[in-house]
Amino acid sequence: MCGIVGFTGRQNAAPILLDGLKKLEYRGYDSAGIAVMDDNGITVQKVKGRIANLCEKTKDGEAVPGFTGIGHTRWATHGAPTEENAHPHLSNDGRFAVVHNGIIENYSTLREELLADGYHFESETDTEVIVHLLEMYYNGSIREALIRTANRLSGSYALGVISSEEPGKIYAVREASPLILGVGIGENYFASDVTALVNHTRNVIYLEDGEFAELSESSIKIFDVLGQEVSKKPTRVLWDVQAAEKGGFEHFMLKEIMEQPGAVKATIAPRIRDGKVVFEELQGILPYLADIRKIIITACGSAYYAGCAGRYALERLTRIPVEVELASELRYSEPLIDDTTLVIVISQSGETADTIAALKECKTRGARTLAIVNVVGSTVAKLADYTIYTWAGPEIAVATTKGYTTQITVLYMLSVYFSDHLWRLTVPEETLTDMLMELPRRIQQAIDMNPTIPALAKKYHDHKALFFIGRNTDYATALEGALKMKEISYLHAEAYAAGELKHGTIALIEEHQPVIALCCNPSIMEKTLSNIVEVKSRGAEVLALTFRNNQKILSTADDLLFIPDVDALFSAVIEIVPLQLLAYYVAKENGCDIDKPKNLAKSVTVE
Ligand code: M6R
Repeated sequence: MCGIVGFTGRQNAAPILLDGLKKLEYRGYDSAGIAVMDDNGITVQKVKGRIANLCEKTKDGEAVPGFTGIGHTRWATHGAPTEENAHPHLSNDGRFAVVHNGIIENYSTLREELLADGYHFESETDTEVIVHLLEMYYNGSIREALIRTANRLSGSYALGVISSEEPGKIYAVREASPLILGVGIGENYFASDVTALVNHTRNVIYLEDGEFAELSESSIKIFDVLGQEVSKKPTRVLWDVQAAEKGGFEHFMLKEIMEQPGAVKATIAPRIRDGKVVFEELQGILPYLADIRKIIITACGSAYYAGCAGRYALERLTRIPVEVELASELRYSEPLIDDTTLVIVISQSGETADTIAALKECKTRGARTLAIVNVVGSTVAKLADYTIYTWAGPEIAVATTKGYTTQITVLYMLSVYFSDHLWRLTVPEETLTDMLMELPRRIQQAIDMNPTIPALAKKYHDHKALFFIGRNTDYATALEGALKMKEISYLHAEAYAAGELKHGTIALIEEHQPVIALCCNPSIMEKTLSNIVEVKSRGAEVLALTFRNNQKILSTADDLLFIPDVDALFSAVIEIVPLQLLAYYVAKENGCDIDKPKNLAKSVTVE
């Protein structure tokens, strides 16, 4: 969940490392550090807290001379967020410095062994064992020492290494954590994410698990796990550099909410031709489609809720039973899966550890696997049999918005595509593709028709708890709405299936308790309305999300959020938008750090 960068070339490394770390700060932000090498050896500078503190301490990098270096921004796993535990870590002899993203699972055994051999530790981190192993195994060849060190490590790691033994070189090692090399002219880079590279180069190489790279200013050599050199061609990053900047918005989250009409359009438009959904990337699955007996959707967090929301359309249109499972549960549940099961894995980052593990588990059991992923070349994208990209562009805010809506959009499109190829469509496909093509405009309307949200946020921001209720797709959206609220505003927010209230939760309803009621599905509106009346008669204040012409709800609720008219089959992707905005403005009222909520990281690459 941390971010790492490396640079070697003919310019001062520190300012470039700091710039890269700022782009990676969404991955972890409790402490940061850089190690830079010049003729006098390695200098390490570390701080507790944000990259801004490191910029201040190093005078924007000017105080740390040298053309070669590595950097790190941390999300603490082992050891508190202190300066001692911040990376880079130095070997006892000062010849090696290491940055690490991931978790070394066998670190305590290694630590015992290294302590017995006389190495001393400066930190409580799992990472520090790596730098001492490097020192221990170094016998004139860093490559050799790296292979021997990597052979001792269990867990996940993306490593960056420099050594005063080889000035001008940086090493990068990957095992189950993202790592990308940036190919420059007279300079080369590595980073956890392309966002840290695109200001310098658009030519990148994605390292695979088990590979490591040796970079100098003029060359990049890549080796496999045995130390055999492998040849890899760079690929070109196509997206716009501006996409990873705030572009005048106060927060990335707000920018990304506003980008949703465009992101959903970019996801849909290239895949609709002559009134039909076309997934060229799925041609290989078509011969097996009729054999699929069950679909399992698996993911974590919001991606899981996207699965919950998309499941209704998938089941309704394909008539194939769909289960939605949390990846962290599925991986340990000995799932009943075989080659008649299609497993759909959803991940914005494509690097979520539990999602990757669930995907591997399902593959081992013979399932066909299909990934819905935003980050091109990510681990999930590479592991799955088939991959559909959500073209949301880079998502920087920790709380996902456009990642989530584009995931649901792909599930809607898949529903139509599969249903057509199974001959199960009961309405003309063109009617459905017209509805899909309308979604971007409807999302924009959902943004435009709710100017009262900042005022509602002022009213609701200082309650102890917020309850979200709904049924079917409204319930799925309530789950995501509550997650958005709690992760960025720190309010206790929970979602309940409205019909479940009477089975316990209604005991919590008291005078002025806010209840956010989602009423966007006409077929069950009356049922939710009854639940609204029940909580109101116990003193709750109800903020209802519904259509403008829904007179019954309008006259019953205390406050209102609106969505435009849209068929319930595809409404979840619209409904969430006002709830994202509500969470954003409540968090703003509460003075929260919206793009980097406490204790969270964008990409959860540890279990
Ligand atoms: O990158 P992924 O989609 O696999 O991430 C899954 C979750 O970690 C993610 O959706 C998380 O719940 C977000 N912070 C929610 O906003």
